[in-house]
Amino acid sequence: MLEHVTATRYVTPLREGGSLPGIVEADNLGTYVVKFRGAGQGRRVLVAEIICGELARRLDLPTPDLALVDLDPEIGRREPDEEIQDLLVASAGLNLGVDFLPGSFGFDPLVWKADREFASRVVWFDALIHNVDRSWRNPNLLVWHRRTWLIDHGAALWFHHNWRTADASRPFDASDHVLGMFANDLDGADAALRPRVTRELLETAAALVPDEWLADEPGFDGPDAVREAYVDHLLTRAPKVRGLIK
Ligand SMILES: Nc1ncnc2c1ncn2[C@@H]1O[C@H](COP(=O)(O)OP(=O)(O)O)[C@@H](O)[C@H]1O
Ligand SMILES: [Mg+2]
Repeated sequence: MLEHVTATRYVTPLREGGSLPGIVEADNLGTYVVKFRGAGQGRRVLVAEIICGELARRLDLPTPDLALVDLDPEIGRREPDEEIQDLLVASAGLNLGVDFLPGSFGFDPLVWKADREFASRVVWFDALIHNVDRSWRNPNLLVWHRRTWLIDHGAALWFHHNWRTADASRPFDASDHVLGMFANDLDGADAALRPRVTRELLETAAALVPDEWLADEPGFDGPDAVREAYVDHLLTRAPKVRGLIK
C-alpha cells in the first residue's frame, strides 16, 4: 500500500508545470509535490503516475516515493490566490504526493552525460509506458544525491484516455528523448528488463491505485477490470517493445 497522509499546509505552487502541482506539508512531517485530482486532466493522470512510478521503482529506476495525500477543503479556502483556491477545493479528498527531493535540480542534457546502461533502460521503460514526456525540452529527470531520478509520469499510458483505440503494438518515437543519444544499448536494456515485467509485477503496481480513481470508467465493470486492462496491455507490449522503438 502507498503511505496515506493528511495535508497540513499548502506551501507554494510549482508554476513551471502545466498542471499546477504544489508543495504541500503533511502530518507525517513529510513534504510532497502534490498532483491534484481536480487539475484539468483529472484522475487518469494520477493513475499513470502510480502505475508507472511503482513500475520504475521495481525495475530499479530511481523515482521518489509516492503517497496518497488527503486534502481538507478548508486548506483551500484559506488560500488567497483564486486559481489555487479553486484547484484545492476541487481536489478535496485523495491526491497524489511525490516525495519532495530538496536541493535537486533538473537534468541538463547539454551539461550532463548519462550512463549508457541507465539511459538505455530509461528509453526502454518509456517506450513500454508510452511516455512522450521525457524530451529535450521537458526532461522530467532530477539529479539528486548523485543519482538521476525519474519524475512526472502523468502523460504516460495515454491510451487510457480512449481505451477503444489502445494499441499495445504502437511504435515509440525516441528521436526526441532526452537520453536518446546515450541510449546505445537497447538490446541490453531489453534483455535485462523484459523478463522482469511479469504479470505479478504489473498487478502489484496496479493494485496500488485507489479504487475511487478507477471507478465508473466507461466500458469497464469496476476497478479491478480496469486494473486488468492496464496489466494486459503492458504484458502484451513488453516482449515486443524493443522492436517498437524508432
Ligand atoms: N519530487 C520532486 N522533488 C523536487 N522537485 C520536484 C519533484 N517533482 C517535481 N518537481 C519539480 O516540479 C516540476 C513540475 O513537476 P512535474 O512532476 O514535472 O509536473 P508537471 O506535470 O506539471 O510537469 C518539475 O519539473 C520539477 O522541477
Ligand atoms: Mg513535468
